[in-house]
This record gives sequence, structure tokens and C-alpha cells, in this order.
Amino acid sequence: MKLTFNNTNASLRVLLENEGFVFPCNGKGLCGRCRIIAPDLPITDKDRTFIPSDDLKKGVRLACDKVIDGEITIDCLLEKRTEKVSKVSEGDAYVVFEEDRSLVGLIADGEIVEELVLPSVDTDFRSLRAFAQRETIELYEKYGLAKATVMLLAGTPQKITECTGIIEEYDYVNTVEANLFDMPSEEVCLLPKPTALIGGDLLLEVLGRAEGTMVVKGSYFAFIGDTELYCARVIPNLNNPATYVATLAYFIKRFNPATALYVGANVIAANAGLRSSESLVTKNVVNVLSSNRQKAKLERLAKKVVELSLADDEDWQNLLTEISK
Ligand code: FES
Repeated sequence: MKLTFNNTNASLRVLLENEGFVFPCNGKGLCGRCRIIAPDLPITDKDRTFIPSDDLKKGVRLACDKVIDGEITIDCLLEKRTEKVSKVSEGDAYVVFEEDRSLVGLIADGEIVEELVLPSVDTDFRSLRAFAQRETIELYEKYGLAKATVMLLAGTPQKITECTGIIEEYDYVNTVEANLFDMPSEEVCLLPKPTALIGGDLLLEVLGRAEGTMVVKGSYFAFIGDTELYCARVIPNLNNPATYVATLAYFIKRFNPATALYVGANVIAANAGLRSSESLVTKNVVNVLSSNRQKAKLERLAKKVVELSLADDEDWQNLLTEISK
């Protein structure tokens, strides 16, 4: 929808919200989905981290970090808030605890009814569980649903351990009575937690991507091989990014990926020439909840996980020394 504004030093997010447009992560810069076409607006770091360079050239920008000063016409690709909420009689819910954000959603008839992209939650079991209960119940109330049939729960191993109390690793989909975890649904579907560092959040990001693809997301690195899914985790430190840069270089050198992608805001990966990719997490949540074939595919993926111990790898050490010089 084309819109013209003539304002002084005004937040574009506020202007668009006043027009009824909805910002998926409330303008927190976490989702990369508040897209507009506005070639006249300068490209920001946030644009570069979420939007592929071809689209940037066509004028695609994010709306939530822009300030308008003077007259400008934009094409807004965001959805407007629908005032009439259609009620749902049966549905599934999901909560995915990622590193820097939490996804909460409601699904009915294989379609997302609503998804909330919220900031990351503290890792202690009371706040994680209370968060999942509170946010899903609010969605149920909004759509007139008494209770979800299944609630899918996935996340980093640490957060899933904190939320459920399950310490051991497992590489299968586990469906249990919801009252075991005090969740507002009939059943809880726990996604695999194949190693101490690799959890269902990464599997949801990788599921369905082609063999030979490298994916970088936050502190996760993954390469999809034909028989193995090689994974590593390195926390990016913007003051001293050497270990992170060395891990990027290591994955590219060792696996020679056919495609190298990053998901979410990641200046280091963007500078290393990786291509920005939309997150597949939501799409795969729907796939896994609606298809046993996809569930089986996810389990096969979990069994392929090989966690790399980079600190013990001579090649990685050499790259780190070279990069640190
Ligand atoms: S609303 Fe999520 S990045 Fe702008």
C-alpha cells in the first residue's frame, strides 16, 4: 500500500502503527519482517543484516528503525491489524525459545492464526514456564479457544532443560501429557535436544534446507552434509570477534558449502559475504505439527548431529591465530 508522509523527525514505525499496520516483533529489530519499499531512505546496518543486497538495490528497507524528515512516499508491505478476530474451536500452540527472541503462536487448520515475536526470556524455570503459560493463554482468550490440543516446545538445550527439568539429551520427538509440565494444552510435543549445545531451535531452522548448505544464526554454525549435520556454537563477541570469524572461515574452508546463509541480524556474517535468509522456524513448526513425515525427517536430522569441538581442532586454531594477528 502506497503512503505519503510529510513529517519532521518522526518515527516511521509510529506513523505506520497509527495507520493500523502491525510490526511482527513490535519494532524491536528481531524479525526482519517489517518491510517497505522506499529507495529514497538510506540503507541502515539493520537493513543490511536482514535484506539481501538485490532487494536493497530495489529499494526494500525495514520500517522499524527509520526516521522520516520531510516528504516521502513509501510502499508498505506490512499487514494491517484486522479488527474482527475469527474464533478458533480447535488449534495447536507453540513456544520456541531462541537465543535472542521467543516465538509464540497459535495454529488452526494448518495455518498460523497469530504469531508473536517477543524478546528472549530469562533462563530460569519459573519465568520460562510462566512465560509459555501466560502468552499462550492470552492467545487462546483472544481467539476463543479453551485449550490447545498440542503445544510444541522447542529451544536451546539450556532453555528446554530449564523449562521442563529434562537434563538428558534426546534425538527424538517426545509427546507427553501436558500436565507433566503444567502447560495449557492436552499434550506437549518436545522437539529433540541432540547435544548439550544443539537444540530443537536449530533443527527447526535447518529442516528442509538443501544438503551442502551452511547456516549461521546467532552463535550457531551448521553445515548440512549427506550423512551428518555438523554443528558448533561460538558466542559472537563484538569487541573481539576473532573466534567467531575463525569459525566462519573454518566452516567455509572445511565444508566448501554450495550455499552459505545467515539468519537474523548478523553483521559479521554479512561482512563475510554470507547471504541473508528468512528464518524457516515458523514454517517448520507448522510442518512438524501437521505431518508425521516432517516429524520423522526432523528426527533423522537430529540423529545426524555432530557437535564439533573447535578448540581441539588444529585447523581452527591456525585460522584463529592468523585472524588474531
Ligand atoms: S518489526 Fe521486527 S525487525 Fe522491524
